[in-house]
Amino acid sequence: FHVEWDIEAASKGGYDFFMLKEIYEQPEVITKTLKSRVDENYNIKFEDIGLTKELLENINKIYIVACGTAYNAGLIGKYILEKLTRIRVEVDIASEFRYRNPIIDDKTLVIVLSQSGETLDTFEALKESKKSGAKVLAITNVVGSSISREADSVVYTWAGPEIAVASTKAYTTQLVILYLIAIDYAQKVGKLSSENAKEFVKELFGLEEKVAKTLLYEKELEEISKHIIKQHSMFYLGRGLDYLTALEGSLKSKEISYIHSEAFPSGELKHGTIALIDDGVPVVINVTQDSLLDKSVSNIKEVKARGAYVIAIAKEGAENIEEVCDKVFYIPKVNDDLACFLSIIIHQLFAYHLAVAKGNDVDKPRNLAKSVTVE
Ligand code: G6P
Repeated sequence: FHVEWDIEAASKGGYDFFMLKEIYEQPEVITKTLKSRVDENYNIKFEDIGLTKELLENINKIYIVACGTAYNAGLIGKYILEKLTRIRVEVDIASEFRYRNPIIDDKTLVIVLSQSGETLDTFEALKESKKSGAKVLAITNVVGSSISREADSVVYTWAGPEIAVASTKAYTTQLVILYLIAIDYAQKVGKLSSENAKEFVKELFGLEEKVAKTLLYEKELEEISKHIIKQHSMFYLGRGLDYLTALEGSLKSKEISYIHSEAFPSGELKHGTIALIDDGVPVVINVTQDSLLDKSVSNIKEVKARGAYVIAIAKEGAENIEEVCDKVFYIPKVNDDLACFLSIIIHQLFAYHLAVAKGNDVDKPRNLAKSVTVE
């Protein structure tokens, strides 16, 4: 097989690290991935993957199986699939999946997510699922990869080669595909009208500009990072979809800045972990969900009262946030379900600048490999 991989595409194009280049490619690759599956009238095209109305009506359970960042994308996939289709979705860590004897039959759809398409645990989970009679759909970034060849059907992300070990553009393009699958699925099983589906797809196309706007915060994030690198521990919080973004934000900074962090649902912190909040401990909180805003403000006050240094990510126009935080990053106004595409950009740039300020090798963090082909 042939993989497109030329020197130019693989060069840093003026950026200090591949990771930064890849972060900046996101507006473009989000649209490219959308265009690979949407026609000029905003209709989604998935004819080739065999997810027909008949097949989907027969499915009663979906598993999303992946590792690392792809797993975090899968959690958001569950959120949007369950919201739109009302079908049960479970997200599994690939290295656990086949050892826990999951309930799989011919009414199960298994979605495996893998940037490289070579992660051994994910590949083995795929093979087990097929053996048990499930229909397996792969979402991957690499044409001709082991996972793409073994799955019943494949949808490619159009992120282009991702060189930095810490995944950025593969994550957001995986989200794009998961959203398109959820919209298409909901439409096919009669849970979403074709007008509403098209509206949703149009909003996805609006992300290009909004992500580009969010990237303008880079300088400010660089400044803030310099003050945080001495910290030994950080917390990432959020409610609902915001919590799922917090998980990926925390993973990004752990991978490359080596600062320990944990992500928590904001409301759960008080059941134990708040004991760790002390003077100056950084707390990064996502508050992009309109319906959860008031509750999130009380969570901010809880940590602030214990001395935390609070950085919030909110939507433009959100009220009452600034007075309770040390710093607020406002992402452009967007539908709550799509805010995760913008808040993650802040997290990626923050993690990047923490790592740069610490003098770490951003693209090749210690102990990590881009693709893990051992168990
Ligand atoms: C490795 C990488 C992670 C990645 C994970 C899954 O651990 O360091 O960045 O998220 O593998 O990789 P995949 O290629 O399956 O998405």
